[in-house]
Amino acid sequence: MNGDIVRKATFVMFGGTGDLALRKLLPALFHNWKHKLMVECLIVAVGRRCEDLPDYLNYINERVDEAKEDPAAWAEFSKQIGYHRGEIKTTEDFQSLREKLEELEKERGVGVGRLFYYAVAPNYFAPVTEQLAKVGLLQRGDGRALSGWSRIVVEKPFGHDKASAQQLDSTLRSHLNESQIFRIDHYLGKETVQNVLAFRFANGLFEPVWNYKYVASVQITVAESIGVEDRADYYESTGALRDMMQNHLMQLLAFTAMEPPISLDADEIRDEKLKVLKAIRMPQSAEDVERNTIRGQYGPGKVQGKDVVSYRQEEKVSPQSNTPTYVATRVYVDNWRWANVPFCLRHGKRMAKRGTEIAIQFTTPPLSLFRGTGILEHVNNTLVLRIQPNEGITLHFGAKTPGVGMKLANVSMDFTYEEEFHQEIPEAYERLLLDAMLGDPTLFMRSDEVASMWQWADAIQSGWDRLPPPNFPNYPAGSWGPPEAECLLPHAGEIAPGLCPIGWRRW
Ligand code: BG6
Repeated sequence: MNGDIVRKATFVMFGGTGDLALRKLLPALFHNWKHKLMVECLIVAVGRRCEDLPDYLNYINERVDEAKEDPAAWAEFSKQIGYHRGEIKTTEDFQSLREKLEELEKERGVGVGRLFYYAVAPNYFAPVTEQLAKVGLLQRGDGRALSGWSRIVVEKPFGHDKASAQQLDSTLRSHLNESQIFRIDHYLGKETVQNVLAFRFANGLFEPVWNYKYVASVQITVAESIGVEDRADYYESTGALRDMMQNHLMQLLAFTAMEPPISLDADEIRDEKLKVLKAIRMPQSAEDVERNTIRGQYGPGKVQGKDVVSYRQEEKVSPQSNTPTYVATRVYVDNWRWANVPFCLRHGKRMAKRGTEIAIQFTTPPLSLFRGTGILEHVNNTLVLRIQPNEGITLHFGAKTPGVGMKLANVSMDFTYEEEFHQEIPEAYERLLLDAMLGDPTLFMRSDEVASMWQWADAIQSGWDRLPPPNFPNYPAGSWGPPEAECLLPHAGEIAPGLCPIGWRRW
């Protein structure tokens, strides 16, 4: 993982007037520029909506929060921006883009390398690559080279299933080497996700108990209170399994379960993650899928005091839609370290509260000295890694309450980033854009990881396709999802030695 600075490189943003550019990419580029991590770089937005550069600058000034919050710095930053109005369809469109890039790079004395960011609909990923290659804007080479490089960043979703992901890969690989392809999963750019590695491997304390002997179960939750916003047309064909489970939750699982890599080299880390993904037990039948997954779709309800409509009533959603907005699943990582430890994964939209966390529940002591004394039955030894919000780590354990006699209470030790570091946590995209400009692929997904994650998601989807249609909607917006999801959690007796049963965590 790099700590360097990028100089004199070009960042080309397809979809420069789109939502991702306005909400994530431009703010991240601005912060990197402000922190002097991207120096004398050229940013070229490609779009159709704006006529020319002044029009584009007005357009983004009105829409990007940073432009309003810090106008003087933003004005200075804007000097690095160029704009190319054009379609991204024909070879002529790309020929004119090439001319524009050459002209701007010459004018600004920039030319170390070019990064092409695909912030466009997935059906453009392959054709844009073909056309860039055709006009000589993509040269096969070493993605980690210090100069003369070309790289691409591909947004998710990377394919719709394993076959389409492999097909897309083969198009990209017919023009580029793997080291030039950066497949983004923005969860990997989150500080707290990277901290899972630091927490596990920089401390001697936790690793000895990080296995089937001491861990009873793991819960990984990504709960969102938002709905599908204005992305219903995308979401209808994607749903919670493909939108979040196949990528973000699988990556969180891989970071939690992986073996220590032999170094922090990108491929060493990705090799270890891949081993976890390959060890995930595949469902053998539709019944297996039914036993191990719960699908949900939200009905009308109240989220944080506000009435919201059901998923089926959202704009551009079919009133008969069976797209899941919630998935809970129990998976097993069939390797030596994790044999028979259930990993319970859960994601939903329009849930009661927003929050992403990894909760490691430890086994109870082999002999309960306090059983039957009428005091606390279950001491809850859970370690919670809070990915967002209120980023931090909490360890729950039992303690004697002060006073005569023996009484126990569940107490906790807490670390929060805010209290400890007194600084804002950088946005995931800041780190990821910088790493891609530096050619560091550690926090990007390799093609074999993507294929393994799809293999699992495809197996779940094909099980669902063979089961009777679900009875949607089955959870009210603003709740914690369908109550049946409780059956996925381990209960006493299912795992030896002792297990203190807990429900799905809520906060
Ligand atoms: C995206 C999904 O990848 O992640 C969205 O497509 C989701 O549906 C978003 O809302 C969540 O990201 P974050 O960083 O807000 O947890």
